[in-house]
Amino acid sequence: MSRIERVHARQILDSRGHPTVEVDVALVSGAFGRAAVPVGASTGRYEALELRDGGEAWDGRGVRQAIANVRDEIAPHLEGLDADAQDVVDDTLVSLDGTSGLVRLGANAVLGISLAVARAAADDRGRPLWRHLGRGEPTLPIPMLNALEGGVHADNRLLVQEFMLVPIGAPSFSEAMRMGSEAYHHLGHLLLARGLSRTVGDEGGFAPALDSSEVALELLVAAIESAGYRPGLDIAVALDAAASELGDVDRDGYRIDGEAEPLASDELVAYWAALCERYPIISLEDALGEEDWSGWRSLTRRLGSRVQLVGDDLFVTHASLLQLAIDQRIANAVLIKPNQVGTLTRALETITLAHDAGYATVMAHRAGDTEDTTIADLAVALGCRFIKAGGPARSERVAKYNRLLRIEEELGAHARFAGAA
Ligand code: PGA
Ligand code: ZN
Repeated sequence: MSRIERVHARQILDSRGHPTVEVDVALVSGAFGRAAVPVGASTGRYEALELRDGGEAWDGRGVRQAIANVRDEIAPHLEGLDADAQDVVDDTLVSLDGTSGLVRLGANAVLGISLAVARAAADDRGRPLWRHLGRGEPTLPIPMLNALEGGVHADNRLLVQEFMLVPIGAPSFSEAMRMGSEAYHHLGHLLLARGLSRTVGDEGGFAPALDSSEVALELLVAAIESAGYRPGLDIAVALDAAASELGDVDRDGYRIDGEAEPLASDELVAYWAALCERYPIISLEDALGEEDWSGWRSLTRRLGSRVQLVGDDLFVTHASLLQLAIDQRIANAVLIKPNQVGTLTRALETITLAHDAGYATVMAHRAGDTEDTTIADLAVALGCRFIKAGGPARSERVAKYNRLLRIEEELGAHARFAGAA
């Protein structure tokens, strides 16, 4: 057992240049853990609260209050607790806050501590985090590499937020990274040849001025082929529509690129079905809005046996929302973003519930991220089938993939890959 000696939080910058929380935890044994909290741009309505200062400085986005909460309210209650008892630590954090959405102390303050304690406990045992948290055989996830960006992550007209390359035919994680990166660079050549910009969006995917999902998908298929791969067999495509950003479905329907009139929910379902017919799409995230559960039901009936349907804003990593969906047979996969729930224990609960119900899990970064690589270790430890950490470009994205390359090397001949048949 090793007791927590000191908890310290500071304000750092995320990859978009906004403040976020970083926490250091030191144990009596001398062990140490550090974690930084990522920041979403297209956040779900029911996410745990990210506490921001408001006011003039940092355009209201400072996290001084969250840091003061760690110093004045949280740290005194954690000092002396056993760092190995993650559930006790996380329960203490949640009850100190007193609300399930962590609206008083801030989910950014709470998650930073929760993850830093896990890291300190792993360090105390001299083990990497993936081994410390590991259940069953460690498995490398299949990367979903962001190749084209739209929505609130880019300034073009694409309303689908993320178009991703998924090297499903790869025999190993490192081969998946090679294949996906090759296709990504071929996409760059194609953009250049067409006089389009190779500037990247928030997550390291290209963000050229394209007008429609169809044009984007044609480009991806062309890039996969030009890199020498078979679309749908070697490399498939995944989309994140982030449809909660496409308007208030009850009031005026979904605003999709190229369509003059907004689409009703059933029309949007038909639109996705048609796209999945024409293109090698294996995974569709937030295809409908977070409030549109009846739409999700018909989407799942229509596509659920063929396409991975991932809930992000729909579930916001909450076990209670996922349980509702399991009961109603809605979606078949869940995105895992620990900062949507605020503690490691809660994220673990959601993953366990998903796997027990036969739902796949996709571990994910946020649009605003940092050099922290915790999600890579979590994906390996917990058997997530996929990881979504952005394009194979920009260090805060590549840091997660590089971490996985090191874990694969460390596992050597024992490295299992979720994509291997
Ligand atoms: P966010 O985007 O980090 O802006 O929420 C990621 C996603 O929607 O999956
Ligand atoms: Zn999403």
